[in-house]
Amino acid sequence: MILIDGKKAAAELREKLKQEVFELKTKYNKVPGLTVILIGDLTPSQIYVRNKEKSANEVGLKSEVIRYPDSVEEEKVLDKIEELNKDDTVSGILVQLPLPKHIDKQKVIEAIYPSKDVDGFHPMNVGNLSSGYESSIPCTPLGCYLLIKKIEPNLSGKKAVVVGRSNLNGKPMTQLLLKENCTVTITHSKTKDLKAECSKADIIVAAVGIPELVKGDWVKKDTIVIDVGINKTEKGIVGDVAFDEVSKVAKALTPVPGGVGPMTIACLLKNTIECFKRSLK
Ligand code: GUN
Repeated sequence: MILIDGKKAAAELREKLKQEVFELKTKYNKVPGLTVILIGDLTPSQIYVRNKEKSANEVGLKSEVIRYPDSVEEEKVLDKIEELNKDDTVSGILVQLPLPKHIDKQKVIEAIYPSKDVDGFHPMNVGNLSSGYESSIPCTPLGCYLLIKKIEPNLSGKKAVVVGRSNLNGKPMTQLLLKENCTVTITHSKTKDLKAECSKADIIVAAVGIPELVKGDWVKKDTIVIDVGINKTEKGIVGDVAFDEVSKVAKALTPVPGGVGPMTIACLLKNTIECFKRSLK
């Protein structure tokens, strides 16, 4: 079994991006900039944002975090986004989710210019991705996709099963796999016989938020299994895949932690650089 080392893959990607930022700086005398807006003090969000800032600095991006208290008015956040939209030194804007209840998530997402939407959440980017046009691609599915391609460069005709249908993961993951000519089945928590669906898969991407849902006898040998889950349980953090069982049968599997997570952040940096490059055109 290949244990897919997301930490190593992310470090390699960051190294490549660092080189690219250096070359862009030499050529244009400018570096890509990432601005993250963090509202409130949820611990996981604080940790994510700290890691994003650290990684951005490591590859040489200009990075800024704007923090607001939980009580901030929606208007103030929207005004700040508008200011950042117009700021040429800002290539990418990310508003960390989840947001406090009084702030309309969709309004915030749609306020960010699609050209600066490093999350790929704006409807324009969602539409462009599904039409096969150039777009920002959500960081987590992009990270999964790069890990899958490392194991299997030619995905044409492969049967892929995506477990989970979220806008963040399942849906964009499906689009990426379709673009690679996979036959994709989207499943979710209400799917009737999930085991039967998974049993046919050459590739499984589990992103449904149910601890250790995908079992060993659901997986063929030679299947690549990507675990997006991060679930807090009594025995600590576990993924959506029963790691011990599945690792005995799968061809390749991502661990949790150390699999998809590090790639998500590296892909955010990649998206920021892509936005910068598109802004030069
Ligand atoms: N919160 C958890 N994951 C994400 C993400 O990918 N983007 C944003 N903006 N917030 C998140």
